[in-house]
Amino acid sequence: MQTKILVTGGTGYIGSHTAVELQQAGFEVVIVDNLSNSSIDVLDGITRITGIRPQFAQVDCLNYDDLLRVFEEHSGIKAVIHFAASKAVGESVQKPLLYYRNNLQTLLNLLDIMIARQVPNIVFSSSCTVYGQPGVLPVMENSPIQPAVSPYGNTKQICEEIICDTAHSGAPVKSILLRYFNPIGAHSSAEIGELPLGVPQNLVPFITQTAIGLRKKLQVFGNDYNTPDGTCIRDYISVVDLAKAHVTACQRLLNNLSADKVEVFNIGTGKGLSVLEIIRIFQQVTGVALPYEIVGRREGDTEQIWADSHRANTVLGWTTKESIEDTLSSAWKWEQRIRKG
Ligand code: NAD
Ligand code: WQD
Repeated sequence: MQTKILVTGGTGYIGSHTAVELQQAGFEVVIVDNLSNSSIDVLDGITRITGIRPQFAQVDCLNYDDLLRVFEEHSGIKAVIHFAASKAVGESVQKPLLYYRNNLQTLLNLLDIMIARQVPNIVFSSSCTVYGQPGVLPVMENSPIQPAVSPYGNTKQICEEIICDTAHSGAPVKSILLRYFNPIGAHSSAEIGELPLGVPQNLVPFITQTAIGLRKKLQVFGNDYNTPDGTCIRDYISVVDLAKAHVTACQRLLNNLSADKVEVFNIGTGKGLSVLEIIRIFQQVTGVALPYEIVGRREGDTEQIWADSHRANTVLGWTTKESIEDTLSSAWKWEQRIRKG
């Protein structure tokens, strides 16, 4: 019999890629999503890739009773991957209560239900944002957590603490916290990818929308940072590689391989790239000239961060497979697919 995994936020960007990898690894997937930031059509994309339509419940994880019903109707769920959250950093500054409510209350509901229904395993979507601007690079899992610069970042820190406190309280909960660096790209089939609403805030969707002509030019936020070319440095990780890390994390929890009730892993490539390097590689792999201009710094930006992913490589047994060239090509293929059909 297949092992059943509940994926909250499973029609979203990272969740949909994870649903594909879970199904391809032989898991049965149940998706819960309220479609606040994704489309039902994503299920068709997943089905076209895997040949299997995941089970789906359009449910708001803020609604305890509705969420409980999903566990009752899909009995035998063995683990949960919790992606459902609001994720726009800027919006979180404008609407902090929305972010605290959505990101904290969904987790609280889920943990209560997991304990009641005896589902002990949860993989949680955390973020490198918890490290702020690290003093030492690359950043390790035990590097200091910095005071959050946005309500969004704060929710990730608080969620990590909620999970740790719950697991260490004696409740039957164990967890793997995955701290993602900068997820980019799309499935190589271009059946699923990132669908930002409105003007993209993140670099790669802005690049692809500029390349296809939806935006006039990319603004590069600052070239006076203390980095080799003056632009900020990030660790850009393929969303497919990231999705695979969730499969490995589930297997580790299900096989009781964890050394602690809560384990933390950085999920990055271990390599930092600047904004100008990303632009150069994008132009090189796509052959498209990208109009851009240097403008002032964006408030709140970290100067440079990249992961020490040694722990994920050795303990979790996960490594990145896709090159940055492949990942940027996949982002471009996806952009062309959604705009031109
Ligand atoms: P996304 O917005 O594409 O996916 C989140 C999904 O959750 C969406 O489909 C949305 O409709 C759903 N959702 C939101 N609130 C919900 C609720 N109350 N009930 C049910 N469904 C709800 O975002 P993503 O990029 O796939 O991010 C997934 C997770 O990874 C989030 O927790 C995010 O904070 C985290 N994360 C993302 C990044 C990134 O750069 N994309 C980086 C680090 C961490
Ligand atoms: C990357 C680089 C920008 C847009 C955000 C969240 C973080 C995490 C991932 C969830 C930066 C530069 C960008 C543009 C630019 N999400 N840039 N022009 O800021 O590293 O991280 O997403 O947890 O919490 O903060 O990603 O893609 O916005 O920016 O020059 O139009 O690209 O300054 O150096 P960021 P990003």
